[in-house]
Amino acid sequence: MAHPDAQFWNTRYLTEKEHWFRRRPYALVRAYADQLPPGGLTLDVAAGAAPAGIYLARRGLRVIAMDISEAGLRLAQQHARELSVSLYPVVMDMTDPWLPSARLDVILNFYYLSRPLFACYRQALKPGGWLFFETFVQDTHRSCNPAHTLESGELYSAFQGWEILHRAETWRKRGTDPQSHRKIAQLVARKTT
Ligand SMILES: C[S@@+](CC[C@H](N)C(=O)[O-])C[C@H]1O[C@@H](n2cnc3c(N)ncnc32)[C@H](O)[C@@H]1O
Repeated sequence: MAHPDAQFWNTRYLTEKEHWFRRRPYALVRAYADQLPPGGLTLDVAAGAAPAGIYLARRGLRVIAMDISEAGLRLAQQHARELSVSLYPVVMDMTDPWLPSARLDVILNFYYLSRPLFACYRQALKPGGWLFFETFVQDTHRSCNPAHTLESGELYSAFQGWEILHRAETWRKRGTDPQSHRKIAQLVARKTT
């Protein structure tokens, strides 16, 4: 039987293709892309249709797109093929993760939270490696599952001691309805040692 996360997300990618396919890359990644190491090995975690990973692949980085949803990764591959770029898809459950030590130049973590990954990221990046992280933060005005939502300040604390290039807790606004606004945390940091 398929993992429940895979079932849930495969259904979403199949029924909401227009929402997920060919999305614009995140502003955080666009802002720092010029500074990333050419050809750098990049892991797009819980990549789905991989908007951030595909953007970096177009700029010559080598990108592994990891996700539990085959349907999401198929969208990523379809988009990558249209753009004639390579993307290496891997189907993986990231709730109990393991990554090799000091191998990655860049990690992308957008809109997915699995706290055991914090320790993995600390060891999997090379010294000087880049972490891009953006996801939802708990918000007193909205009920949310704490397993899938950061506490305020948590992301920054998890990578204290790294070179912090950008940190913010802000609002993601889609449309004019304040009910749809969601609190998010952003971090761009480099591993120092
Ligand atoms: C909100 S989407 C974000 C996708 C992509 N990072 C983006 O920003 O467009 C969350 C992603 O997490 C993936 N996911 C959920 N549970 C997972 C798990 N246990 N292991 C790996 N990926 C998982 C889903 O398949 C989905 O692609």
